[in-house]
Amino acid sequence: MDLKELYRDVILDHNRHPRNFGRIESADRSAQGHNPLCGDELSLFLRMNGTRVEDIRFEARGCAISTASASLMTEAVKGKERAAIRELFEEMHRLLTRHDEVPAASLGKLAALSGVREFPARVKCASLCWHTLNAALDHDAATVSTE
Ligand code: FES
Repeated sequence: MDLKELYRDVILDHNRHPRNFGRIESADRSAQGHNPLCGDELSLFLRMNGTRVEDIRFEARGCAISTASASLMTEAVKGKERAAIRELFEEMHRLLTRHDEVPAASLGKLAALSGVREFPARVKCASLCWHTLNAALDHDAATVSTE
C-alpha cells in the first residue's frame, strides 16, 4: 500500500467513524465554524483543566474532509496544552498551504490531510475545524467563518 492509499484510508475511516463525535454538556468553551462556500457547519465543545484541553468533542454537518479533519484533530489535541496546540495549528497550516512541505513527524495521522493542498477549495474543508478550535481557545464562546 503506498502512502496516498494509506492517507485515503485514514480519511475514509475517520469520516465513517468520527472519533469524539457529540457534545460535552458541561463544556467550558464552545465555538461554531461555518464554511460559507458550501454552508457546512461544525460545533466544537471543550472541557479545560487550566490551560490543558482535557476533553474535546464535535458535531458536524459537512463533507468527508471536514468531518475526517475534525475527528483527527480532536484525537491529536485531546490532553494537550494550549501552547502545544497552537504549534500544531501552525504545522497544519504549513502542511495545507505549502506544496513542498514534508509532514512533520509530530503531526502523526494528521499528515493524511496533506493531499488536500492539491485542491484549494478543499483546504478550507480541512482547516475549518482548526480555525474553530483557535476561536474556542481564545474566547469562551465564538463563531468563525472560513471567509
Ligand atoms: Fe463544505 Fe467541505 S464542502 S466543508
